[in-house]
Amino acid sequence: MNKQMTFIHDKLNLYLQDILEGVRNLPDNSFDLAIADPPYGASTNATWKLDNGHSLDGFGGAWKLASHDWDMFNGLAGFEFALSWLNELKRLVKPTGSIWIHSTYHNSGIINVACQILGLEIINEVVWYKRNAFPNLSGRRLTASHETILWVHTGGNKREYYFNYEGVKVTTFKEDNLKEPGKQLRTVWDIPNNKKTTELEFGKHPTQKPLRLIERMLLISALRGGHLLIPFLGSGTDIIAGLKYDMECVGYEVDPEYFNLACQRISAYLETRDTNLQMELFECKDLLKASNLLLNGREASAK
Ligand SMILES: C[S@@+](CC[C@H](N)C(=O)[O-])C[C@H]1O[C@@H](n2cnc3c(N)ncnc32)[C@H](O)[C@@H]1O
Repeated sequence: MNKQMTFIHDKLNLYLQDILEGVRNLPDNSFDLAIADPPYGASTNATWKLDNGHSLDGFGGAWKLASHDWDMFNGLAGFEFALSWLNELKRLVKPTGSIWIHSTYHNSGIINVACQILGLEIINEVVWYKRNAFPNLSGRRLTASHETILWVHTGGNKREYYFNYEGVKVTTFKEDNLKEPGKQLRTVWDIPNNKKTTELEFGKHPTQKPLRLIERMLLISALRGGHLLIPFLGSGTDIIAGLKYDMECVGYEVDPEYFNLACQRISAYLETRDTNLQMELFECKDLLKASNLLLNGREASAK
């Protein structure tokens, strides 16, 4: 697909284009951070065919998330696609930066394996605990209440990736019952999955993330003024978080309906430019210290 539509604004470039095609000519090390929320393959009911003639059950639960084409994979193709875009992200994100990858149980296994094959070191596996998850109506399964997020870096043994260790430690997140004031942030994040009305004003995406989840990732790993890559835009949540964080953003989306949704949402945000993070950050005793840590970024880094 050629570039059919773009949304260019100040320090923002969004493309209605396949990620693999879009980033092909971008130079290595162009970005400080990437946040990837890829198709999960949850709609898929495919088989894997191996070269020696064996055929294996595939992944996905044939959930047909309203039969979303973007969430369908043809067996092994899903794994190959994950390897391809992760390989591009590895090339594009600086060793001083990092990459966040969302997943559900449908694809978390292949994402983990793909990262390990590509030498993307897993810094942490985060469990996003959704305490208000929708009940299981069939009564044949437990209530699915979490998603898995990998935080990885591209820099091998040097581990130069930016981590706002002190800034995160002094922060409390009002809704998170697991984060204790002044204590290290754990890998289980208690963030309800509801969105504010403004997040849904222009329509919904079936896998739309709450803004404060992405803001937390940025607090941990982003430098203000840095370059952010969003390979799978959806409704544009990550871009809004990135703009609030003063980052220069580039994003890709293949579906015109979601691209329009993202553009409308982002345009409306740009008109208001509310730079307050939704996280309701500090109950930190030393507010000055906390804001210096956040603003100075690099000085706060701890490996
Ligand atoms: C899981 S959703 C992202 C949701 C997003 N995080 C949000 O909060 O709205 C993944 C998106 O990637 C898009 N997509 C799928 N394949 C793509 C590709 N090859 N290049 C770019 N976008 C793609 C889908 O259309 C879908 O909107």
